[in-house]
Amino acid sequence: MGALSTKHLLGIKQLNQADIELIFSTADNFKEVINRPIKKVPSLRDITIANLFFENSTRTKLSFELAEKRLSADVVNFSAAASSVSKGETLIDTVNNILAMKVDMVVMRHPNPGAPIFLSKHIKANIINAGDGAHEHPTQALLDAYSIREKLGDVKGKKVAIVGDILHSRVALSNIYCLQKLGAEVMVCGPPTLIPKHIQSLGVKVEFSLDKALEWSDICMMLRIQLERQGSDRSVKYFPSLREYHQLYGLTSERLKKVKRSPVIMHPGPINRGVEISSELADSENSIILNQVENGVAIRMAVLYLLASEHENEE
Ligand code: CP
Repeated sequence: MGALSTKHLLGIKQLNQADIELIFSTADNFKEVINRPIKKVPSLRDITIANLFFENSTRTKLSFELAEKRLSADVVNFSAAASSVSKGETLIDTVNNILAMKVDMVVMRHPNPGAPIFLSKHIKANIINAGDGAHEHPTQALLDAYSIREKLGDVKGKKVAIVGDILHSRVALSNIYCLQKLGAEVMVCGPPTLIPKHIQSLGVKVEFSLDKALEWSDICMMLRIQLERQGSDRSVKYFPSLREYHQLYGLTSERLKKVKRSPVIMHPGPINRGVEISSELADSENSIILNQVENGVAIRMAVLYLLASEHENEE
């Protein structure tokens, strides 16, 4: 078994292709484990993991917790809303207090971009970024690429269109890095107001017409409009209305019939049915949305297992 080139999973940017392939081959083994009648292995029996969620999550939080329990780790959960963060405690003080309880690894979601990188410079535990603001969401991109590999045999040479609110999306940035490292071509598509300026410098194509993006792509990754990152009063308007957004950028059967295409459909969740995608297509046979969720557990088991091995080697 090989080792990752890094002690932390802060972003896909810091991984190399060999790291990603090692995570995938390790996830293959764990996928086999979680489909057995007895789904648990003792791999992380002496490891304690803290899940620190300073921002809401359903899929990522449950998926990490399940992955940790399947590996027999001891797990503590922290959510900012129910903590002393509301009393003014700093991030480092909060985390150091948790680490004083002998925690080995930290899984952290935080609204501020760079928070896990900052933390990794100040504490000894392995840090896994579970999403930091609009920066990166590395395990989401890993499970997305793994799901493409599972569905189409390989990621290399595939054409992936990422559609929607690219500007506020950590999923988009992590996927751009991950898919390109694995040899895919990436296009971003959305209203000009939701496409970051200079994104071409990352080597992606930019398309403002969803029909053209669909004509080009093998895989269509639909993203949610992140109203919560667009300012609480929505004083900056990125598009006139959700209805108009759906008309221009919503994925529907009618649109696919018009362009005569049937791409693989992905979505990281949570889905806004009837906005970025119709209910019918979200549940269609070309959709691998639930496969993405299932693969998330195996990918997170692989990441935790590989980083814990690194942690043991260092001691
Ligand atoms: N895909 C994703 O990160 O979902 P959650 O926000 O529910 O974790």
